[in-house]
Amino acid sequence: MSKDIILSPSLLSADFSRLSEEVKALEAGGLKWVHLDVMDGHFVPNITYGPPVIKAMRKECSLFFDCHLMIDRPERYIPEFVDAGADMLVVHAESTNHLERVVTQISDLNVKCGVALNPATPPEAIKYLLPQLDMVLVMSVNPGFGGQMFIPFSLQKIRDLKEMIMAAGSKALIQVDGGVTPENVADLVDAGTDVLVTGSAFFKFPPYDKRRELFEFLAHNRFAQDGM
Ligand code: DX5
Ligand code: ZN
Repeated sequence: MSKDIILSPSLLSADFSRLSEEVKALEAGGLKWVHLDVMDGHFVPNITYGPPVIKAMRKECSLFFDCHLMIDRPERYIPEFVDAGADMLVVHAESTNHLERVVTQISDLNVKCGVALNPATPPEAIKYLLPQLDMVLVMSVNPGFGGQMFIPFSLQKIRDLKEMIMAAGSKALIQVDGGVTPENVADLVDAGTDVLVTGSAFFKFPPYDKRRELFEFLAHNRFAQDGM
């Protein structure tokens, strides 16, 4: 029952005055991915950073840049994010009237493509896109801020999505983002999660190599946790 689980720390909870050091510390701590939350103050109430900051960080590390675009009409900015060095662009199903067109736009630029679903958006919204996707992001909080509580129905949503992905013969990974902590890692992996995003429950607990080891241990030894 062992599979590779990817940990993608959300830089939203890092020290923004030391981003260069933070991404280097992740790399030194054995992380392979970093989750970059782009917020525009329209799609979500918060504002973070955009392509220039991503481009600057690209020079500082070789981490896989998993870019979560919480912006309205992301089709306006896809080439800028690709030029900045994104490895994967994840757009919200709710952020555009033409989701299939954006997915094709991203794939045509030879970066990985994902779609994110807000808590109230059912997986059926992307059923016909699944063969084209590299990842589906299940938001387990309403997007915009770190440190929120995990919404419990997200577990059933992940199970439903996993069934749909298998039925479609899709290779899409399932990513979960929001309120991911050591306490719910085992349940999330059991439900079908492949990529765990963790912000506050990761960055508040350095050193990063030890924190990564804890999450990986919980993901891979979840049956041992139950005494099985
Ligand atoms: C929220 C962001 C998340 C956030 C997660 O809108 O998409 O990536 O950083 O933070 P935690 O893990 O603290 O819930
Ligand atoms: Zn995110």
